[in-house]
Amino acid sequence: MRTLLQVAALGLVSLVGFQGQTGGRPSWAFLAPDKEQPAVAERNGEIHIPGSKKAYTEKQIDDLTNPPDWVPEEHGQVPKVVAGAPGSTGLACGSCHLMTGQGHPESADLAGLPVEYLVRQMMDFKNGTRIDAARMNTIAKVTSEEDVRRAAEWFAALKPAAWVRVMESQTVPKSYVSTKGRMRLPLPDGGTEPLGDRIIELPQDPSRATSRDPHSGFVAYVPPGSLEKGKRLVTTGGAGKTINCTICHGDDLKGLGDVPRIAGLHPIYIVRQLYGFKGNEYTGTSAALMKKVVAGLNEDDMISIAAYAASVAP
Ligand code: HEC
Ligand code: HEC
Repeated sequence: MRTLLQVAALGLVSLVGFQGQTGGRPSWAFLAPDKEQPAVAERNGEIHIPGSKKAYTEKQIDDLTNPPDWVPEEHGQVPKVVAGAPGSTGLACGSCHLMTGQGHPESADLAGLPVEYLVRQMMDFKNGTRIDAARMNTIAKVTSEEDVRRAAEWFAALKPAAWVRVMESQTVPKSYVSTKGRMRLPLPDGGTEPLGDRIIELPQDPSRATSRDPHSGFVAYVPPGSLEKGKRLVTTGGAGKTINCTICHGDDLKGLGDVPRIAGLHPIYIVRQLYGFKGNEYTGTSAALMKKVVAGLNEDDMISIAAYAASVAP
C-alpha cells in the first residue's frame, strides 16, 4: 500500500509534468498540441490581410502543398519546391517557413542563412545525423538534391528582418498550443498567468499569423533579467560556463562563413537547438563544434542565451 508520502510525491511529479516538462525537455519550447482545445470558429469565406491584394479561404491557407503567397510583388519568382503548386503532393517549404523564410516559432527562420549551411542541414535531416521531432526528416528524404539547392538558394538570398520582439515580463497572456500546425495562440477568453522560467512566444496578431501573413511577427515573453544575463554568456562565455558565441557566429551574431546567424532567430527554436546539440540526436561533424558550447548549460542559461540572441537585430 502506498504511504501518504509516496502519494504526495506522485502528485508532485504529475504537477511538474503538467507544468511543462516532457522527457526532461520543456514543452514551452518543444511544442505539442494541448489536449484541451478552446472552441475556435473556422473562418468562412475569403480572408484578406493588410497590404495584400490577394484573398484565400481558410482551406487554401492551410494547404501545405500550395500555400498562400500574399505579396508576390515583394519578391522574385519563387522556386516550385518553396511555393508549391496546385495538386502537388510534396509539402512546400513556404507553407511552414513562409515565402519570406522567417517562419513561425514552431518551425524555423531560414532567411539569409548561408546556402552551404542550409544544404548541410537538409543532408543531415535526410541521413539522420540531425533528428527533428516534427517534420524535417521526412521532408528531406523526399526532396531531390536539385530542389534542396534551389530552396537553399532562395532562402539564403532573403534579407532577414526584425520578426520577434523580445520583452521581459513577469506575466504572459494565457495561451494554448493549437492542433492546427502546433501554433501557440492566446486563449480566446483572455487572461494572464505568471511567466515563470519559460519563454512564451505568441503572434503579434493571432489571426494574421494563422493566415501565414509574412508581415506580422511575434512577441517573445522572457523572464526579467534574462537579457542581461544572456548578453554576458553570449559575449564572454560567462567565465568558462560556455564559449563566447561571437568567436564563431560573428561579433554581431549575424553569422560567419557558413556558421549561421543566431541574431533574431525565434528564441524557442534556439532553445530546441541547444537541447538538440546537448542530446544525442545531432551527430554531424559541424554540430560537433556546438557540443562543448552547450555541455555546461542548464535550462536557465539557455533561456537567457536564447532571449538575448533573439533580441539582437538580425
Ligand atoms: C510542415 C512544416 C514544414 C515544411 C513544409 C518544411 N519545414 Fe523545414 N522545418 C520545419 C520545422 C518544424 C523545423 C524546426 C525543426 C526543429 O525545431 O528542430 C524546420 C527546420 C528546417 C531547417 C533547419 C533550420 C536551421 O536553422 O537549422 C531547414 C534547413 C529547413 N527546415 C528547410 C526546409 C526546406 C528546404 C523545406 C522544403 C523542402 C522545408 N523546410 C519544409 C517545418 C517544415
Ligand atoms: C566553435 C565555434 C562555435 C561557437 C563558439 C558557438 N557556435 Fe553555435 N554553431 C557553430 C556551428 C559550426 C554551427 C552549425 C552546426 C551545424 O551545421 O549543424 C552552430 C549552430 C548553432 C545554432 C543553430 C542555428 C540554427 O539556425 O539552427 C545555434 C542556436 C547556436 N549555434 C548557438 C550558439 C550559441 C548561443 C553560442 C554561444 C553560447 C554558440 N553557438 C557558440 C559553431 C559555434
